[in-house]
Amino acid sequence: GTTHLTLNTGAKIPVVGLGTWQAKPGEVAAAVETALKAGYRHLDGAWAYDNETEVGQGIKNSGVPRSEIFLTTKLWGTFHRNPLENLNDSLSRLGVDYVDLWQMHWPVAMPSGQGKIPVNEDGSRKIDFDRNFTETWKDMEKILNDGSGKVRAIGVSNVSIPRLEELLAEASVVPAANQIELHPYLPQHDLVRFCQSKGITPQAYSPLGSTDSPLLQEPVITKIAQAHGVQPAQIIISWGAQRGVTVLPKSVTPSRIEANAKLVHLSAEEMKEIDELSSQEGKKKRFIKPTWGGWDLKFDDWK
Ligand code: A2P
Repeated sequence: GTTHLTLNTGAKIPVVGLGTWQAKPGEVAAAVETALKAGYRHLDGAWAYDNETEVGQGIKNSGVPRSEIFLTTKLWGTFHRNPLENLNDSLSRLGVDYVDLWQMHWPVAMPSGQGKIPVNEDGSRKIDFDRNFTETWKDMEKILNDGSGKVRAIGVSNVSIPRLEELLAEASVVPAANQIELHPYLPQHDLVRFCQSKGITPQAYSPLGSTDSPLLQEPVITKIAQAHGVQPAQIIISWGAQRGVTVLPKSVTPSRIEANAKLVHLSAEEMKEIDELSSQEGKKKRFIKPTWGGWDLKFDDWK
């Protein structure tokens, strides 16, 4: 099967990457080391995950050269007016000179200097309404092209079709990737096709449906898993890979980390069954609920 996709920069990106969101301190370094030793060459991370120091330790402990690894970090919302400060902090925590992909984590700016998630008195999140994400994108473009070599590609995350259209109208650099919640209960067919038609590689976060996912017990998935003699997670990851998206399963369990990198080939009939799963009554689910007051992210498949 396909092991790599090619970004619009020409760089190759391994289809399966280790997700590090919700990997707890004390677990991440070992998970990264296990993954790299098992053959992973793609690590997905973010400044906001608060574990980049450990991710860097895992890379060092593995002995795998930095140049062989596709490494991603993301710009956090409170740094939209000073993206370079956030990038420099990620590089220093990771202990690397560059990342392969730097993504805007959300198309939403939040005020700086009030912690990671500034909140209003009523508990809602504070938004920096005077800072449009397209302006932040232009700053990311400048950093991409400033000759420092700190980022090899720039991308976005959590961006819907209407917001991508808004961005593409103003951008000089087409995002290399858009990382979105993507799994059989939220296949986002329209958004995936839109990204692919524009040369933007879609990337699946929470590809298994996140923590305690009901997807792993979903009869359509377990039936196909039994037919192939593999774990349900491997079917879900293989389905993503065959759609032409990169898949970023998170695990801190060695046996799962190893299994998740082993893809199987699904028949056209199996692909169709999984593609259509979310159209069954009550099956469509978003696991990650963005709670950004004032912003309607308008994911096309999620009404
Ligand atoms: P753990 O990290 O304890 O191994 P997602 O990638 O959608 O966010 O899902 C991550 C969740 O799925 C984590 O709770 C992770 O548990 C679990 N997980 C990862 N791989 C597998 C697998 N092969 N089988 C079952 N659960 C898995």
